[in-house]
Amino acid sequence: MKFTYSNPTVIHFGQGMISAIAKAIDPAKKVLVIYGGGSIKSNGVYDQVAAALSGHKWMEFSGVEPNPTVETLDQAVALIRKEGLDYILAVGGGSVIDGSKYVAAAACYEGDGWDILLGKHRVKQALPLGAVLTLPATGSESNGGAVITRKSTREKLFFSSNAVFPRFAVLDPDVIKSLPERQVANGLVDAFVHVCEQYLTYPVQGWVQDGFAETLLRNLVNLALQFKQRDNDVWRANFMWTANQALNGLIGAGVPQDWATHMIGHEITAAYGIDHARTLAIVLPSLLRNQLENKKVKLAQMGRAVFDLAPDVGLAQRTVDAIENLFRSLGVPVRLSEAGVSGPEAPELIAAGIEKHGMAKLGEKSAITPAVVRDIVAAAA
Ligand code: NZQ
Ligand code: ZN
Repeated sequence: MKFTYSNPTVIHFGQGMISAIAKAIDPAKKVLVIYGGGSIKSNGVYDQVAAALSGHKWMEFSGVEPNPTVETLDQAVALIRKEGLDYILAVGGGSVIDGSKYVAAAACYEGDGWDILLGKHRVKQALPLGAVLTLPATGSESNGGAVITRKSTREKLFFSSNAVFPRFAVLDPDVIKSLPERQVANGLVDAFVHVCEQYLTYPVQGWVQDGFAETLLRNLVNLALQFKQRDNDVWRANFMWTANQALNGLIGAGVPQDWATHMIGHEITAAYGIDHARTLAIVLPSLLRNQLENKKVKLAQMGRAVFDLAPDVGLAQRTVDAIENLFRSLGVPVRLSEAGVSGPEAPELIAAGIEKHGMAKLGEKSAITPAVVRDIVAAAA
């Protein structure tokens, strides 16, 4: 094991913690509050943010869409330049926070912001940003990653930089009371797959990483089992904290990681507009079956430690079945056809996107070539 680990985001966790923004942002800063389609206006979050910022100069930018687009976000960059704003407060789910990271980085770059996604510009500098999380799922509130879409070319690409780690994140579990059931289910699936991407590889004796990953996975299974009784403080708090820990860098430090499911999922969202988490529920079981040989030791470990499966023959396969059944129990589609995509072109189209975006060898063993992607997508039809 060899790694450098740092997570600089200060977490303010708990009911009523939105008020912590007042002290978390230097009063000399001119703040741009960025949010999405307006859910924060009807659930009281906007009012709490406004109250906390009463001692600050601030403006707002709304309309960041799910799967945030560079076309929309560049308007926020222009506003920042015009008004001389120097701090960003993202209030929303992964899309708003990711979009705000892009804005923070693009505001410090003279060229075309899309260069950041193409890797032509490596982000070293960004405006400082904070986050108020309204949807536990992505972990974006305390990591350095962001996924941005370009509508005009139907591309969805990823960038990461230490410069865009939020300075702080507010996690108040009460704010998720207004979430539609679909988004709660999506959040559970996304967090579950984040752990899988960092855990379902091959064993390297990372006892801390494995043990913590298994705790997070068991939490997510329990949260799913209690899905119908979820209207309580304990459920909400554990959901929010588990989803955060699933992608804040800790369980992935020093161990092999996969991320092929995510890269294939991003292509599927770009092509068909399917929700991020739903693409993962479609791809992961198929990918695990395709890569069973490479992953069977960790799959068996997961089957015992997370699903309490008996250690007989076929344990790895039975673990994949258990994962798929977990997703089904939450009502998310696990086949492309269940998500409304039919016709023979999807495998070719998605494999071509993976190739075009330079992902010739995905997975912890670099075993997932575009041809393998085609098979995985075909088997998920
Ligand atoms: O637009 P608003 O009004 O905010 O409504 C949103 C949106 O319609 C709504 N919502 C959020 N909080 C709510 C709420 N509705 C009622 N009450 C609340 N408290 O939920 C809808 C979906 O929001 P979105 O932010 O799109 O969802 P999510 O958090 O799942 O984010 C998905 C995006 O994150 C990227 C995905 O690719 C996708 O673009 N990811 C980012 C990652 C990262 N930065 O590390 C990793 C992930 O794997 C993922 O790729
Ligand atoms: Zn994800």
